[in-house]
Amino acid sequence: MLVSAKEMLDKAREGHYAVGQFNINNLEWTKSILLTAQELQSPVILGVSEGAGKYMTGFKTVTAMVDAMVEELGITVPVALHLDHGTYEGCYKCIEAGFSSIMFDGSHYPIDENIAKTKELVQVCAEKGLSLEAEVGSIGGEEDGVIGKGECADPNECKMIADLGVDMLAAGIGNIHGKYPENWEGLSFETLAAVKEKVGDMPLVLHGGTGIPADQIKKAISLGVAKINVNTECQLAFAAATREYVEAGKDLQGKGFDPRKLLAPGAEAIKATVKEKMELFGSIGKA
Ligand code: 13P
Repeated sequence: MLVSAKEMLDKAREGHYAVGQFNINNLEWTKSILLTAQELQSPVILGVSEGAGKYMTGFKTVTAMVDAMVEELGITVPVALHLDHGTYEGCYKCIEAGFSSIMFDGSHYPIDENIAKTKELVQVCAEKGLSLEAEVGSIGGEEDGVIGKGECADPNECKMIADLGVDMLAAGIGNIHGKYPENWEGLSFETLAAVKEKVGDMPLVLHGGTGIPADQIKKAISLGVAKINVNTECQLAFAAATREYVEAGKDLQGKGFDPRKLLAPGAEAIKATVKEKMELFGSIGKA
């Protein structure tokens, strides 16, 4: 059964670790992440961007696949199915499709509109038992067509959104989707501490988990980050392992072209990446 992310994130914040949100793109991705979470007894959040949802033919397909996979694989650790950077319309589609958690990304609206729309969704999610993530201050870079400038969040605006009753808050602190550029200045812990000061015990979300050095991840967790999103790193690991297989000519040997063989090294690479992140985030054994 899919669960809201609220309980797992409250526990993470209290226990000073973070739960990983790993974005999914297809069946192999989902299976690799779920099996790793189960093996390591870690709670997990499966993230679905609107682009990935469309690619997988729609949110209903995604819910049906994840629901069935959790059952057929005998997954017993807490699993939340979460919309990543949802539009207002996308949030309603996911609520209807049976997601257990959503993110409404109203960061590109003027703050008053972000507040009004978030407030409405707080009510709807509370009625249906879903957890809700809101965003203030955009995350830099591009993810599935969602482009952010990467400005740091205003702590007062964070408080206004947190006070609406959201379950988790993504505040821009200089983090970027995709690979970090050479001249990246690192996370703004000054902003993070100021946000934490204003929002108190609200679990904070760190987007752009790919490529953030371990010491910065640990410091962010110590300052209230309880959910960390990882997408690009699994994609890079999958692509590199698949490239190695094909470049070694393995798809031309015997039945090496069978998709179950061709995609296997990539799936294993995703498992290794997820494991590494769960170790770093401290969520192993916390199911
Ligand atoms: P990365 O692709 O940089 O890991 O970011 C993932 C993310 O924040 C999803 O919302």
